[in-house]
Amino acid sequence: MELLRRNSIKTQVIKSLLVLVVVALILRGGREQRSSQAKPTRPRKFESFEYSAMSCRAHSASLTEFGGVGDGKTSNTKAFQTAINQLSQFATDGGAQLFVPAGKWLTGSFSLTSHFTLYLHKDAVLLASQDLNEWPVLKPLPSYGRGRDAAAGRYTSLIFGTNLTDVIVTGDNGTVDGQGEFCDIQISNLTLLNSPNWNVHPVYSSNILVQGITIIAPISSPNTDGINPDSCTNVRIEDCYILSGDDCVAVKSGWDEYGIAFGMPTKQLVIRRLTCISPYSAAIALGSEMSGGIQDVRAEDIVAINTESAVRIKTAVGRGGYVKDIYVRRMTLHTMKWVFKMSGDYGNHADGNYDKNAFPEITGINYRDVVADNVTIAARLEGIADHPFTGICMSNVTIGLAKKAKKQPWTCTDIQGITSGVTPTPCGLLPDQGAYKSGGCDFPADDLPIDMVEIKKCTHRISYV
Ligand SMILES: *[C@@H]1O[C@H](CO)[C@@H](O)[C@H](O)[C@H]1NC(C)=O
Ligand SMILES: *[C@@H]1O[C@H](CO)[C@@H](O)[C@H](O)[C@H]1NC(C)=O
Ligand SMILES: *[C@@H]1O[C@H](CO)[C@@H](O)[C@H](O)[C@H]1NC(C)=O
Ligand SMILES: *[C@@H]1O[C@H](CO)[C@@H](O)[C@H](O)[C@H]1NC(C)=O
Ligand SMILES: *[C@@H]1O[C@H](CO)[C@@H](O)[C@H](O)[C@H]1NC(C)=O
Repeated sequence: MELLRRNSIKTQVIKSLLVLVVVALILRGGREQRSSQAKPTRPRKFESFEYSAMSCRAHSASLTEFGGVGDGKTSNTKAFQTAINQLSQFATDGGAQLFVPAGKWLTGSFSLTSHFTLYLHKDAVLLASQDLNEWPVLKPLPSYGRGRDAAAGRYTSLIFGTNLTDVIVTGDNGTVDGQGEFCDIQISNLTLLNSPNWNVHPVYSSNILVQGITIIAPISSPNTDGINPDSCTNVRIEDCYILSGDDCVAVKSGWDEYGIAFGMPTKQLVIRRLTCISPYSAAIALGSEMSGGIQDVRAEDIVAINTESAVRIKTAVGRGGYVKDIYVRRMTLHTMKWVFKMSGDYGNHADGNYDKNAFPEITGINYRDVVADNVTIAARLEGIADHPFTGICMSNVTIGLAKKAKKQPWTCTDIQGITSGVTPTPCGLLPDQGAYKSGGCDFPADDLPIDMVEIKKCTHRISYV
């Protein structure tokens, strides 16, 4: 806790631009009791509950106090914004938390405030509004130049915030539902504006806990990633279930010359106990916007079903930056096109001014203890000519091929590395080291600071008319 507090103060001082969206969620052991102490003249409802989080708050309120209606039809965008604006006054007075009761809460995007907790009841569903007016277009992020692919800017995420610190979105497995209908609409408008609509997108932030969240984004929408840590340090994503038309977790750090100039990496990222369904994308993607660098990513206990690839590294000449010290272990995979994919020719530039000599450095990529079945192609690993991806290590990987698998399970160009105990027999560029290379590929034994954060038990009691 102290460590976290010191870090967050340090971050505030150091970063003049801090954009933070934190989603934490917790609550396996959460309890809730309701007691109706109705008096004939003035019926009031009392709700009290306990939950676990990095910080507890001194003030509590319920969305219904601000005119919220959880009928799945009434827009709650204004209620959220009014509530958060009013609660923001407590930022310097112990912080505040907003309770979202059981119900279907239709809403457009809303922004959070510092020292704030958004708590979703387990039967609370945030439904993304289908009214585009409730989705303001934001100025592009400086590390992306003109906006991820748009000159005009970008749509906000459902839950977003800029320049914040100490924000938690938590609950008892409450649900955020992107609503397929809307995002179809989005496809037509996405194609025009080419705007990303990332679900949970923390940017230029540190000390982020994303825990126990379920994200159901429409599979038919290609630009609705699940969780995107972007130029963030010390991030922990765990116990999440994501159904997505894009990558379940996409790790990013800026785009081409803008990302190189901004120079803010994503590092010290833990992803554990992720369940992903992503028929057209990856369970974990690194890039393609990685120009600020991606380093020290530790992923473990990943389950992916009907997913295009398990881990995918995407980059291109012009990106610069690096992807290094990546560690993945214990993946269980069913029905994949590729288990491992690396692409050095992803293309997709911010504009024509990218530096044609800005070669990304991809090195130290470790995959171990992987079991996959019904796989079409074991791996497609394509580096950059004269700038190979190096230090690739794979150990104890068993890939069961599908009946209709491609004849050649491995495609490798411009890569260097080693393997041990991998079936089917890897390509010649990944020579087999025989028996296990001193216990297999690396996975760090130390804890990252975000793993040492103490989780507190918070209690809240709310009474409202
Ligand atoms: C972020 O907040 C700090 C301090 O509150 C302020 O100095 C800075 O200008 C803000 N930056 C942006 C981009 O809003
Ligand atoms: C959370 O909700 C999802 C979807 O409703 C469900 O599949 C999952 O089992 C729930 N997790 C817990 C821990 O209750
Ligand atoms: C798409 O956006 C345009 C304006 O950018 C708007 O006129 C149109 O109604 C939108 N389409 C849908 C289906 O919402
Ligand atoms: C190989 O990986 C599987 C699946 O994660 C695991 O059960 C097994 O213990 C591993 N074997 C060794 C020798 O580490
Ligand atoms: C294997 O994968 C194919 C798609 O490649 C799918 O149609 C089939 O149902 C899968 N089989 C099993 C047993 O999951």
